[in-house]
Amino acid sequence: MTHAAYLDNAASAPLRPEVLKTLEAHLRHPDANPSAIHALGQEARKRVERARKEVADLVQADVSEVVFTSGATEANNLAIRGVLEPLLDAGRRPHVITSALEHASVIKTLESLVARGLELTVIPPGTDGVIRVEDVLGAIRPETALVSITAVSNEVGSRQPVEAIGAALRRSVSRPMFHVDAVQAIVSTDVTFATAKADLFTISAHKIGGPKGVGALVVRRGSDLSAILTGGGQESGRRSGTENTFGISGFGTAASALVAAREREIASYRKLRGSLLGRLPAGARQIMPADSPVAPHILALECIGKENDWIVLLMSREGVMVAAGSACKSGSREASGAVKAMGLDDQGARSVIRVSFGHATDEKDVDAFIDALSRSLAR
Ligand SMILES: Cc1ncc(COP(=O)(O)O)c(C=O)c1O
Repeated sequence: MTHAAYLDNAASAPLRPEVLKTLEAHLRHPDANPSAIHALGQEARKRVERARKEVADLVQADVSEVVFTSGATEANNLAIRGVLEPLLDAGRRPHVITSALEHASVIKTLESLVARGLELTVIPPGTDGVIRVEDVLGAIRPETALVSITAVSNEVGSRQPVEAIGAALRRSVSRPMFHVDAVQAIVSTDVTFATAKADLFTISAHKIGGPKGVGALVVRRGSDLSAILTGGGQESGRRSGTENTFGISGFGTAASALVAAREREIASYRKLRGSLLGRLPAGARQIMPADSPVAPHILALECIGKENDWIVLLMSREGVMVAAGSACKSGSREASGAVKAMGLDDQGARSVIRVSFGHATDEKDVDAFIDALSRSLAR
């Protein structure tokens, strides 16, 4: 389908041209099992290891710390279950601190463990969409086993102080494991595995212009993490299953392309954001306070008095793709933590749309968005 503007990159970004090239070459090449010791197996292994280096460079980790997964959902599950299940199995009641800004793959996974004895503290953000370092540190107990905080809210784009949290946790007496969901942060901020001082760090290929169905959990060397997928012992025993060689090569290329283009892309997102906000029609407003720290590629807008699903569908008919926020927790009509913090009630939350830029977005997309939004709000 031809479209006027794709502004839903936080849900999935289009493939980068460099990635398409890698994938085409990969498809034409005989692809053996990277665990095979014959020559073709060794070629497949080389491609996986090249990609591992590219991903490690993106997040400033050692190659031995990158564990490929089927995406960020699995990486988040591995981080959480891998730390907590052995403790729960041993009859302990571990405590976890998380935020009200987490993606469902974090919060639902944690909630699913409460029935087995997990104690959960959920830190709400302030009106700026940001959680306070003191609130996290103040919630630590002797039995806190894990702190899991997203680096950027995927709903409103607010950037969290993960570097300060990571540094403080390193100094804390009980020294809980620190997991950072960096899926959105890696797109347009300077947060890395190294700067966040994380033990566990989640990223996903399709948010950075790589293929869907591949991601990674970066695991600090020596971390105690049990596998959730057992089998052939691939990925140093941390994630069994034949590697998705095709996806992994594309992920590697996306990672190195992002490293090369990062500064230019971040500058472009800032410019596009300013241009869009400067031309917002009456009836729409940015829900984040203007001085909140943000990932510049995500923008949450309230379409005052309108249902977001309706606006998204009207705009889609004009060829402009945006998201109905994840403004409500899926399956319920209740406002999420991020949106509530901005002072919106359940009704207000249902009027929030999310606009997100990607490597291919340009000023023409913003023009098309402004035109379509003005017409949609007027209906
Ligand atoms: C912050 C965050 N974490 C995790 C995920 C899940 O990623 P994946 O699609 O790779 O499972 C997403 C995707 O929307 C996300 O935005």
